[in-house]
Amino acid sequence: MDIIRTILVAIWIMLPTYVANPAAVIFGGGKCIDGGRFWKDGKRILGEGKTWLGLAGGTLSGMLVGWIQEMLVKASGTNYFPSFGNGYGVLLFALAFGALFGDSAKSFVKRRMNIERGEKSPYFMDQLDFVLGAWIFATILTLGQFWAFFNIYEVLVIIIITPALHRIVNIIGYKTGKKQVPW
Ligand code: CTP
Ligand code: MG
Repeated sequence: MDIIRTILVAIWIMLPTYVANPAAVIFGGGKCIDGGRFWKDGKRILGEGKTWLGLAGGTLSGMLVGWIQEMLVKASGTNYFPSFGNGYGVLLFALAFGALFGDSAKSFVKRRMNIERGEKSPYFMDQLDFVLGAWIFATILTLGQFWAFFNIYEVLVIIIITPALHRIVNIIGYKTGKKQVPW
């Protein structure tokens, strides 16, 4: 097994997911998804940090990057990086939208745990929510086909490197004024 290639391919396939999250930070703003509504516990359903523009901008940005990747693979004829497959549009949607769905699901759980918007969450929730959301959506929308080219080693690579990548991107977001907190 070529470890370097496993790492690069894992990142390649997850790139639409990795792009969706920071793109939501860049495009976010305006009306929030929960419409300002509260849950039974008196706390916001999702909170001010989850907006329709973030969801749409993040999903479309992730899909656009994936589409560019697909075109590059086809144009270059390389087989070092995989194609996203026949129904790649569906998979790209799953990888990008699933990321933001996972992120919103995490916010729902955070609010129920009485953790304010922007505060850190326990158990790597902030770091792995979007990856988990992407995998769940990819599994469902491709009817399991996703796992035909994404293997257990790539899963391990992603689980290990994502918290570090997440931290780096958020520090950049904080320093450039895009994020209020560096996590
Ligand atoms: N964002 C958005 N819409 C989304 C996701 C993110 O507008 N669907 C924007 C918001 O401005 C948000 C920022 O990106 O504040 C950072 O995202 P994130 O860290 O996921 O949200 P938090 O503000 O930390 O809120 P939470 O505690 O709910 O995770
Ligand atoms: Mg946050």
